Amino acid sequence: IREDYDAVADYTAKYLRDRINDFAPTADRPFVLGLPTGSSPEGVYKNLVKYHKAGQLSFRHVITFNMDEYVSLPQSHPQSYHTFMHTHLFSHIDIPPSQTHILDGNAADLEKECQEFEEQIRGVGGIELFLGGIGPDGHIAFNEPGSSLRSRTRVKTLAYDTILANSRFFDNDISKVPKMALTVGVATVMDAREVLILITGAHKSLALHSCIELGISHMWTVSALQNHPHPMIVCDEDATLEL
Ligand code: GLP
Repeated sequence: IREDYDAVADYTAKYLRDRINDFAPTADRPFVLGLPTGSSPEGVYKNLVKYHKAGQLSFRHVITFNMDEYVSLPQSHPQSYHTFMHTHLFSHIDIPPSQTHILDGNAADLEKECQEFEEQIRGVGGIELFLGGIGPDGHIAFNEPGSSLRSRTRVKTLAYDTILANSRFFDNDISKVPKMALTVGVATVMDAREVLILITGAHKSLALHSCIELGISHMWTVSALQNHPHPMIVCDEDATLEL
């Protein structure tokens, strides 16, 4: 628990920097990192870029997989997760573009796209650390309430609450928010050897409570973390209001 959002972002970025450096990745043994979008990781990415520019962190041997992407939103759209990742992280660091993976929400065959994503993750030996955020309803990636805890990467219809929450990025107009997304499954995240979840703000306090103080439930998909051997939640004081 850290005081506020900035302290959460500072702690998490330092943790990731040290984790990658301690792993000492090479071309033969890359560090495989799962990444989220949304406002929660923005400060973390800012700090990672700072560490990279200061010569404290290289992404030369890091391979990334993003959690999700909207269906049918052009990749060049300002709110696509492709644009987000390039704007906030990839364009500022030394990661080779071929080592970044983001689901293609415009693929002709969406199911095949999802299947191939899982195969690519397996092909590099699985994810070492999955960084994530959650929605106020406790969803991880786009695993909306009711998602199977054994789910894998797939097409998902977004919950009304998520469309409403994300409309702030689309001129507060819910008609502009995509209604479907491609997302890694709960099991895809839980397969990672370590999972680190960012939870900040009073509006996520019920989700934090449900995730760690209630039982594991597919209605609060992040609660699956209780079964993970190496989980960590980094939250701020506001998010602890219901604990
Ligand atoms: C979206 C994303 C999630 C993210 C959530 C919270 O629904 N699919 O991966 O965790 O938003 O976003 P924010 O961090 O902006 O609150």
